[in-house]
Amino acid sequence: MLVEKNVPLQTYNTFGIAARAHTLVRVRSAKDVHDLLGDHRLERQPVFVLGGGSNIVLTGDVKPLVLKMEIKGLRLLEETDKAWIVEAGAGEVWHEAVAWTLAQGYPGLENLALIPGTVGAAPVQNIGAYGVELQDRFHSLVAIDLATGRPFTLDAAQCAFGYRDSVFKHAAPQAPHEGGGLHRGMGLAGRAVITHVRFLLRKDWAPELGYLDLERKRQEAGVERPTAQQIFDWVCEIRRAKLPDPAVIGNAGSFFKNPTVTPEQCQDIIARDPKIVHYPMPDGTIKLAAGWLIDACGWKGKTVGKAGVYDKQALVLVNRGTPDDSVTGGEVMTLARAIQTSVYERFGIRLEPEPVVV
Ligand code: EPU
Repeated sequence: MLVEKNVPLQTYNTFGIAARAHTLVRVRSAKDVHDLLGDHRLERQPVFVLGGGSNIVLTGDVKPLVLKMEIKGLRLLEETDKAWIVEAGAGEVWHEAVAWTLAQGYPGLENLALIPGTVGAAPVQNIGAYGVELQDRFHSLVAIDLATGRPFTLDAAQCAFGYRDSVFKHAAPQAPHEGGGLHRGMGLAGRAVITHVRFLLRKDWAPELGYLDLERKRQEAGVERPTAQQIFDWVCEIRRAKLPDPAVIGNAGSFFKNPTVTPEQCQDIIARDPKIVHYPMPDGTIKLAAGWLIDACGWKGKTVGKAGVYDKQALVLVNRGTPDDSVTGGEVMTLARAIQTSVYERFGIRLEPEPVVV
């Protein structure tokens, strides 16, 4: 177990925000978690679990103990008549894990190619793109209870997946480490750490092309039934064209969730803005494109301080500073609040931020 003090986090968050961790522990195995829990200097401290840092906004130095998840490993756990069950360590880079499954001949994760971050973070916000969410390919995960040190397994129902949501995004009503064992379903943020994620990749795979941009690619290529590798390549092309590469321009992906409204609310908005992008959901609600709402308010390409709105996708806030003079979390949140206010004033809709604000 490696314990470091006063660690710069600028290269550990994709926004490239300069901040420090008071104490950071690199977790490379389940044993590291056990060592940590047995260490009297570190036990009973609040923790902050850091994966690829692709979904966080750091608003200052991080006082809770930072657990940087670096558990590696990719393997076929089980093969049945119907599926391959693949297990990945929480510290694997998500995109590399996706590429590995395809290279082994296990399709299913291709629509989720090029999403920044690590495997361990994927279930936390139930990552999704181009018609597929993590929960659609999920088998189970292994986590360690930070109060007792005991490992446990959760299936999809126990993870309580929702749109960019899971049990790991919610804090428990009770403080961590009080009263011992976990009360599952009560919120596991800060109470448990994911060590491994298992995917169920079905042998009766079929391409998922419901998303308009992908269907367009299929038509352009003149292919009737694309392979998983072709879809992987198309998704990479679409993302590279629309979304900023965090290695070049700091960002945390979509900054707001796409809001849902009632059909009545939607009709109201359509009456005023007939071009609004909206999608009916299976439960009868209507999902609106937050990027469109922000764009309609004139924010695309705007800069406030060193925080900016990406010029090709208004849903993405970016770092317009330099590594030596980077945007601050405060500047990002000031811009985010200004956007929320103008969308609320024009459409009566409250946008909810997607990244975790630390
Ligand atoms: N749009 C605009 N102006 C903009 C941005 C978007 O008019 O500035 C319109 C687009 O023309 C399109 C619609 O809004 O008609 C939706 O845009 P897009 O297809 O880019 O998808 P999105 O809803 O903005 C979501 C996810 C992305 C994911 C894509 C593809 C959320 C919050 N975002 O974006 O996820 O990659 O769909 O599935 O659900 C992420 O979570 O970090 C992320 C990038």
